[in-house]
Amino acid sequence: MRIRQLIEANLPLTPVPSVPEIRLHKAGPGSGLSRFAQTDKSFDTPYWAYHWGGGLALARHVLDHRESVAGRRVLDLGAGSGIVGIAGAMSGASYVTAADVDRYAIVAIELNAAANGVNIETFHGDVTIGSPPDVDIVMVGDLFYEAGLAARVTAFLDRCLAARIEVLVGDPWRAFLPHGRLKLLAEYPGGDFGTSGADSRGNAVFAFTRE
Ligand SMILES: C[S@@+](CC[C@H](N)C(=O)[O-])C[C@H]1O[C@@H](n2cnc3c(N)ncnc32)[C@H](O)[C@@H]1O
Repeated sequence: MRIRQLIEANLPLTPVPSVPEIRLHKAGPGSGLSRFAQTDKSFDTPYWAYHWGGGLALARHVLDHRESVAGRRVLDLGAGSGIVGIAGAMSGASYVTAADVDRYAIVAIELNAAANGVNIETFHGDVTIGSPPDVDIVMVGDLFYEAGLAARVTAFLDRCLAARIEVLVGDPWRAFLPHGRLKLLAEYPGGDFGTSGADSRGNAVFAFTRE
């Protein structure tokens, strides 16, 4: 079965609790994601099938501050389900590209964008190794979860700032965040994926700033 059909058949479209304006194909107990892995050796950790604290906070923030993206060209970096880019498109961004290294995420983003009635371009690959993109703002939801990745993303965001591109980050206060480079803009309650929320510090939205 093709990826599109697998997602449509096994991951129901569900409203996002803290961002009810958006519906996403989300994995549940009956989705059988392990079957995907058995039939496709390229299947990787399905980040795209879940909600992440950083993306939830950033999507909420953008929808509540539409002026931050309205009329601007947006890159959603490490897009997963596409929740941040979808929020950007709903908030009046002139153009949204969602980039992810996982081809399942690319299909999920296309399905989720269509389900929410917005247009999003997708890019399958690692943009962090290249030049800054031709956009006005880069939005990063929950991409500081591994040390090496966090270092690469930070270096890329530095190149974006140097190219006068604004950068917003949503994150559940992970250890690998470049804390000294971030200006806190807003905090939102709620847990990270896999926690109840009760032991969580919540999720935050930051502006990435120069050293
Ligand atoms: C924790 S998920 C967050 C997804 C989404 N931004 C959100 O907040 O819901 C991280 C995503 O980043 C993607 N990713 C990891 N490294 C990447 C890279 N170098 N370039 C683009 N995407 C990447 C993963 O495939 C995954 O979909």
